[in-house]
Amino acid sequence: MDGHIIKGHSTPETHIEPEEPRREPPETHIETPETHYPPRASMGVLEAIYTRRSIRKFLDTPIEYDKVMEVVRAGSFAPCAGNLQNWKFIVETDRERIRSMYHHTLEQEAFTSAPAAIIVVAEMEVAEQYYGMRGKRLYAVQNCAAAVQNMLLAAHSLGLGAVWIGAFDENRINDLYKVPSTARTQAIVLLGYPDERPQPRHMKHLWYLVNFQRYGLKYARPHLITHDLSTEWEQKRAQLEGASERATRKLGLRGGGDLGGKGRRLVGKTVGQAQSRAKRLLASLKKRPAKRR
Ligand SMILES: Cc1cc2nc3c(=O)[nH]c(=O)nc-3n(C[C@H](O)[C@H](O)[C@H](O)COP(=O)(O)O)c2cc1C
Repeated sequence: MDGHIIKGHSTPETHIEPEEPRREPPETHIETPETHYPPRASMGVLEAIYTRRSIRKFLDTPIEYDKVMEVVRAGSFAPCAGNLQNWKFIVETDRERIRSMYHHTLEQEAFTSAPAAIIVVAEMEVAEQYYGMRGKRLYAVQNCAAAVQNMLLAAHSLGLGAVWIGAFDENRINDLYKVPSTARTQAIVLLGYPDERPQPRHMKHLWYLVNFQRYGLKYARPHLITHDLSTEWEQKRAQLEGASERATRKLGLRGGGDLGGKGRRLVGKTVGQAQSRAKRLLASLKKRPAKRR
């Protein structure tokens, strides 16, 4: 039964009859988001990136046809080597067929509730024709990965949940969807309205992930590489505040009590020293490149 995809905001009962095959648009057809999809108020890109999670449990609610196609369109707008666009997106909305994939995907539960799936196929031969082995082994795979990421973000910004499925029996999926031997199924994206709300996941700190200028090279003050002195000033300000607080505590004067002449002189000296240290440091930073650690 293929009644799980509905057009626009029509009722879930709406059943779409298969359309007459349409003539292919000319290959030079140019579509841009501006002309076909005028900007609308939705989630910003960074917000979508930071709040997206994989969704593996879906509500029974059908997905609007327009939304599924917008997700696919977002995929097709991904960057791709040489603008080859050597991919195919097979849209599957038959729940029985999606459920049947459960057996070819290490019995992943997500297949039992997803109302839609997009099978992402790379046309390997096309990539090879243009870029040889690198095209076949690398670009074709990377193109599809970029498309999948676009689709996940688009789905999330449209209020849908999605998950990237990479663990599947490729031969079985290829058979099911008649994928030719010149192509390879790269991923399956499951789509639907979320029936779970995963917590934010544990993320490695950027410190462990980022190197500057060469592999393995870390800087104690990476902001200086971009000559961002405002960050340096901010850190110095925090240091000064800390120094002043420590001096106040040393005198046993908490909560902003009167320091007295001696106390004020002591704090003034500490702050003064820190200030001149900061000034000297900044002056030297302007002259010499950032120190490696
Ligand atoms: C190449 C690739 C293959 C993946 N395969 C699966 C999969 O087969 N099943 C699944 O549930 N999630 C799969 N995922 C999703 C990851 O498990 C998920 O992105 C990761 O745990 C981070 O969680 P998040 O997406 O919620 O941020 C895959 C992700 C990638 C990039």
